[in-house]
Amino acid sequence: MTEIPIFDTTDEVNALWNELNSAFQQTMRDGRFIMGEAVPRFEQEVASYLGVRHAVALNSGTDALMIGLRALGISLGDEVITSSFTFFATTEGISALGGVPVFVDIDPRTFTLDVTRLESTITPRTKAIIPVHLFGHPVEMDAVLDLSKKYGIPILEDVAQAFGATYRGRKVGSLGICGALSFFPSKNLGAYGDGGMLVTNDDHVAETARMLRVHGAKKKYYNEVLGYNSRLDTLQAALLRVKLPYVDTWNQQRREVAARYTDMLSDVRGLTLPTVPAHMQHVFHQYTVRVENGLRDELQHRLKEQGIGTMVYYPVPVHQLPIYQHLNVQLPICERTASEVLSLPMWPQLSIEKQVRVVEAVKEVMKQAQV
Ligand SMILES: Cc1ncc(COP(=O)(O)O)c(C=O)c1O
Repeated sequence: MTEIPIFDTTDEVNALWNELNSAFQQTMRDGRFIMGEAVPRFEQEVASYLGVRHAVALNSGTDALMIGLRALGISLGDEVITSSFTFFATTEGISALGGVPVFVDIDPRTFTLDVTRLESTITPRTKAIIPVHLFGHPVEMDAVLDLSKKYGIPILEDVAQAFGATYRGRKVGSLGICGALSFFPSKNLGAYGDGGMLVTNDDHVAETARMLRVHGAKKKYYNEVLGYNSRLDTLQAALLRVKLPYVDTWNQQRREVAARYTDMLSDVRGLTLPTVPAHMQHVFHQYTVRVENGLRDELQHRLKEQGIGTMVYYPVPVHQLPIYQHLNVQLPICERTASEVLSLPMWPQLSIEKQVRVVEAVKEVMKQAQV
């Protein structure tokens, strides 16, 4: 029995083998492994793809969030509103800068911020909002943009899981003052190592980010502020340039894989499947279902026995992590969601045969559990 992992790059690497090899060889020959030509080229290409003026390549999505927050001036005691149903990196930068994450509960259907709860959490200390486009599903941005305007609070979008997704026809990452991208290998546009980027239309944010990624210096060896060593490797930029032209096709393939899952699983009792509002284009970084009646762990275990990989993103909501327990926050929807979610195998080239095997296995377990 062949295993079906949750995510697999084999088909992608095979299809791009020659192009990746020639980008690799060219980088080796050029010999400029730090800030070589591929870096500014990749920055321009992403900026034009997303429809923003500036793109600053960095070494991870985590750094993109941290550097974005620094560029917005977040410091001691500042409050930043965000979702607790996310990866810890979303809030790590806030806390590292001495700020306080203010967690808002989620919409149970979309797993993203419940925007109807945002306004009541705004205080005079609120200095930014981080909407997280989780699993590739855009946040309901109209409401966030309205509040941002009404209270003068900047938006830093966490686009780590949603490269290429759109909200009312505009690419996410281009809607707030800046957007943090991740090129972690499993992401929709993934590198072959770590990588990230801050994108923005704001000249000051871009200039600050460029300075912070090279130890806080605008001019080499004339350091002005404490910064980071956070450059994207030339090699990763060169390989990502090969992949960027394919990302729309891959995102479309992900939507097709998702549509097939939804079609085949729609009659299974005890599962809630993802839905997508018409004004958004989801990019299905994950296909995540809710498993009701306390059956999630059993389903995951039984699928594993059949060689089918799944993941629980995320088993512990961020506000319940040891680092934030002192905040004493309760978010019932988020907490319940963490006990029900299961992400199924998802990548653009996932074959119908493999998908059918996943679906049959899910159906069998759910049927047996309910008799
Ligand atoms: C929602 C979210 N934010 C931030 C990050 C951090 O990105 P990176 O792993 O590139 O540092 C990730 C990725 O793992 C993520 O999923």
